[in-house]
Amino acid sequence: MKINAAALIVIISSLIAASSMAYADAPSINAMLAKADIVAGEKTAHNCQMCHSFGKGEPNKTGPNLWDIIGSNHARLDNYNYSSSMKALHDTKWTYDTLNQFLYSPQSAIAGTKMAYPGIKDTNDRANLIAYLRTLSDSPLPLPGK
Ligand code: HEC
Repeated sequence: MKINAAALIVIISSLIAASSMAYADAPSINAMLAKADIVAGEKTAHNCQMCHSFGKGEPNKTGPNLWDIIGSNHARLDNYNYSSSMKALHDTKWTYDTLNQFLYSPQSAIAGTKMAYPGIKDTNDRANLIAYLRTLSDSPLPLPGK
């Protein structure tokens, strides 16, 4: 088989694109956060509440309490039994980006997570939800680029 130079470039650049993909391949929400609709985000968060409490000091449910999640380490609570996949990420923080990837597709972002949730595919819905989650803190993490 003969491969010409143009075909080779296409092959190589698609290999590079695949290897540099964000871990669940969700479109970035960073530019949307400042204008996000926090009230709409709070409604989307009802999807999480069968498994998560949001208030400061509230007990864990099937999933861990999410107060102050953004800017905290993965698997940060001592009183919750995380999956080993989540525990393995303990030294990394939940940023706007990592949360965006995780909420887009939990299983692809963190293989082996025990969060049984398909994810939120709509980028606007994710931005609104994450803007709402940001408010669950005594000192919310600055928005990206601020
Ligand atoms: C069916 C139950 C369920 C639903 C619904 C659910 N989660 Fe989870 N979530 C879990 C479980 C269980 C874990 C622990 C995952 C692990 O240890 O791998 C988790 C973990 C998390 C974590 C990591 C917390 C930490 O301390 O590191 C975040 C963030 C999170 N969920 C956000 C959400 C958001 C936001 C929603 C709503 C869009 C949601 N979850 C919906 C069960 C759920």
